[in-house]
Amino acid sequence: MSFVVAIDGPAAAGKGTLSRLIAKRYGFHHLDTGLTYRAAAKALIDAGLPLDDEAVAEKTARQVDLSGLDSAVLSAHAIGEAASKIAVMPAVRRALVEAQRAFALKEPGTVLDGRDIGTVVCPDAAVKLYVTASPEVRAKRRYDEIVTGGGTADYTTIFEDVKKRDTRDMGRADSPLRPAEDAHLLDTSEMSIEAAFQAAKTLIDVALNKTI
Ligand code: C5P
Repeated sequence: MSFVVAIDGPAAAGKGTLSRLIAKRYGFHHLDTGLTYRAAAKALIDAGLPLDDEAVAEKTARQVDLSGLDSAVLSAHAIGEAASKIAVMPAVRRALVEAQRAFALKEPGTVLDGRDIGTVVCPDAAVKLYVTASPEVRAKRRYDEIVTGGGTADYTTIFEDVKKRDTRDMGRADSPLRPAEDAHLLDTSEMSIEAAFQAAKTLIDVALNKTI
């Protein structure tokens, strides 16, 4: 059986960086499940199709190829917004969750990050982490990322977007963002990524020892 690390949390909480560090340290496969929603949303936009037709969106979601997810292309802010709109549709979620569960079986282990990994996609994951940070800190991180990358950004607009995305992700009926009951909470507001990684590593090592 594959060893699954499930990492959930709101946008820009540090899930991505933490997941990549864990995958590298343990030689596990990593899937950023947000990219699957983003890929479906981008395919709809590129084909000039509507974002509010569930049957059309489901068909597009079923065609998403997990091996071809390009985070650079999919990271655009507008694609994230579109992704969170189609992510409220149960048929879209069913299609993508199927593909995510198949990925989670990869040996020797996998790290999946998203919003519903510990609650819906992999409820039996060996380790569940819920990574969070205050909306102010998350907005500032996004802002710094854009400015460091040579772009221009407005902090207040990003802050409002972060809060809007939280409301949509936490408020939807199907698979809302929330910590699984057995998830370990990591608040990265005042924690370095290295400290978060060490905390995660301790939990993973304990779980790995149990499986031997
Ligand atoms: O994490 P990221 O910002 O790339 O995700 C984009 C959107 O995809 C999220 O705002 C969320 O609505 C949706 N998503 C989801 N379930 C996941 C991953 C992402 O609903 N497991």
